[in-house]
Amino acid sequence: MNLHCFDSEPAWIDGVCSIWRDRLRTTPDLKICLPSGTTPAGIYAEMVRSVRAELVSFAHASVFALDEFGGVAADDPGRTSHTLRRQLIDDVDLPPQGFHSLNPDHPDIAQHCADYDAAIGDGFDLMLLGIGLNGHLGMNEPGSPVNSPTRRVELHGGTIQSSARYFAHQDLPRWGLTVGLDAVLTSKEVWVVANGAAKADIVQRTVRGEIGPSNPASLLRRHPNCSLFLDAAAGSLLNRRDLA
Ligand code: PGA
Repeated sequence: MNLHCFDSEPAWIDGVCSIWRDRLRTTPDLKICLPSGTTPAGIYAEMVRSVRAELVSFAHASVFALDEFGGVAADDPGRTSHTLRRQLIDDVDLPPQGFHSLNPDHPDIAQHCADYDAAIGDGFDLMLLGIGLNGHLGMNEPGSPVNSPTRRVELHGGTIQSSARYFAHQDLPRWGLTVGLDAVLTSKEVWVVANGAAKADIVQRTVRGEIGPSNPASLLRRHPNCSLFLDAAAGSLLNRRDLA
C-alpha cells in the first residue's frame, strides 16, 4: 500500500486530481468505480473544473457507481447515484451510456447484481474509495467475504447513523447494494481517499493493524497497486516510518 500524505486538504485534492487527470489522458477509456458522499466532494468539484477548463475529458470513460441505498424512494436526493450525479456526472462530458448505477428497486436483485458484475467485465482499471469509520469499503461492512460479488447487504448501525447527513428525513436506509470486495481486490488500481481527524484512527488501523475481514480496508494491504491519499489530519496518527 503506497501512502501519500498532504499538508492540507487543498493539496490533497490537487494531488488526487492531478494523478486522476494523468490516468484519463493515458487511458481515455478508463473504467472507473466511484463512491459518492462527503469525502470525495472536493475532488469531484476539482475534476468538474478540470473538464470545464478542457484539461481532461470523460468522453470515452465509463463510470460505475460503487453502491446504492435501498428502501428509500427512487427519487430521494440522498440516493448515492443522485449524489454522484450532482457531484460529478451531470457536470462532466461523460456520455449518458457511460454511467452505470445500481437499482435497489429492481424486481430481481440477484440478477441485477449479476448483470452489474457482467457489465464490469474483466475488472476496473481504477477504483476510488472512501473509508468508513469501521473500515467498510463501499457497503462492504466488516465480515464481508473477500470474494464477495455485487450484492444486497445489511448496513451496520454506525453506517446507518452516518447516512443521516444525506437524507432530509429520519427513515434511514438499513440496507443497500454494493460492488463486492472481489471487484475491489481485483481492480487494477485502487485509491483510498480520507480526510479529516475523524478518519485518523481507522487509517492508522488500516495501515498498521491486523489484516483481515474485521477491517475490510486492511485487506488492501495485500493489493499490488493500492494507494492511500490522506490529508494531514487523517494521517495524524501515522508515524514517519509509515509515511517513508
Ligand atoms: P464518508 O466516508 O461518508 O465520510 O465519505 C466514506 C464511507 O463511509 O465509505
